[in-house]
Amino acid sequence: DDLKRFIQKMPKAELHLHIEGSLEPELMFALAKRNDIEIPFATVQEVRDAYSFSNLQDFLDIYYQGMSVLLKEQDFYDLTFAYLTKMQEQNVIHVEIFFDPQGHTDRGVPFATVIDGITRALDDGLAKFGITSKLILCFLRHLSEDAAFDTLAQALPFRDRITAVGLDSSEMGHPPSKFARVFEKAKAEGFLAVAHAGEEGPPEYVYEALDLLKVDRLDHGNRALEDTALVTRLADSQIALTVCPLSNYKLAGVTDMRAHPIKKMLDLGLKATVNSDDPSYFGGYVNENYDAIIESLSLTKAEILKLARNGFEASFCSEKEKQAMI
Ligand code: HPA
Ligand code: ZN
Repeated sequence: DDLKRFIQKMPKAELHLHIEGSLEPELMFALAKRNDIEIPFATVQEVRDAYSFSNLQDFLDIYYQGMSVLLKEQDFYDLTFAYLTKMQEQNVIHVEIFFDPQGHTDRGVPFATVIDGITRALDDGLAKFGITSKLILCFLRHLSEDAAFDTLAQALPFRDRITAVGLDSSEMGHPPSKFARVFEKAKAEGFLAVAHAGEEGPPEYVYEALDLLKVDRLDHGNRALEDTALVTRLADSQIALTVCPLSNYKLAGVTDMRAHPIKKMLDLGLKATVNSDDPSYFGGYVNENYDAIIESLSLTKAEILKLARNGFEASFCSEKEKQAMI
């Protein structure tokens, strides 16, 4: 209908996207064949049927298994270029994407192979589609502080291609405080910082992301709404939240889209943005995430525009670059 066409046409940014989570089953099969890797699925339908999760860990188990087909530079290129092709179709003109180097280096894939493939595709995305991008290196929080330090050291030769560091994977039991020293070092090296917080974890984890990791943006942040002092702080500081509606639904953080908190976040003056997280696993890219919330929350055109504008304003682009996009 009218609002859906409006969303399709509207220029957008995506700020919360795990590139490994954009691996579609078709490409997973093609890469498994190309690299002679066994996967425990016989058909694309079997893969899709396996994508039924009751929490974050359920999803992560299958997400790490899925990325095992990525071995060569060309694999990372194909993965990233497929995502950018989709973004061009959806009028997404700027992307800030996460990658999980430890998901690959721990399988023996060199850091350089991963980042070379991803950034070659990002360069082509700019040349062919005019899509601008930033790259964010995520540390896997279920692994040790030492492993994160080691990954940061491996990233330093490529620092000119990496804008920020982030924190993802299993949140419960792995609070931001575990990585305070790693983030301190990363910030001293000139990286910006983000962290997943308040996806499943309590408001305390959001405070830690702000106070100990000194994040420039919060990924998810849903559970911050449980703490009124925290809401006031986020509203006053206008620290952006990269909200992922379909992800919240598929991982059962939100059991009914009509109860999704994104409208409430806007009403509270929080700088919320709309993102897809892991589109292949959660059933939708950016436009489908917008479609899901307009249907269930009866958002107005003004609210939709506000969310899209927030995406550009919360990006890590320069003020001049932002002005050109808004
Ligand atoms: N949460 C935490 N870690 C992740 C996610 C997520 O949604 N996707 C990929 N890694
Ligand atoms: Zn995420």
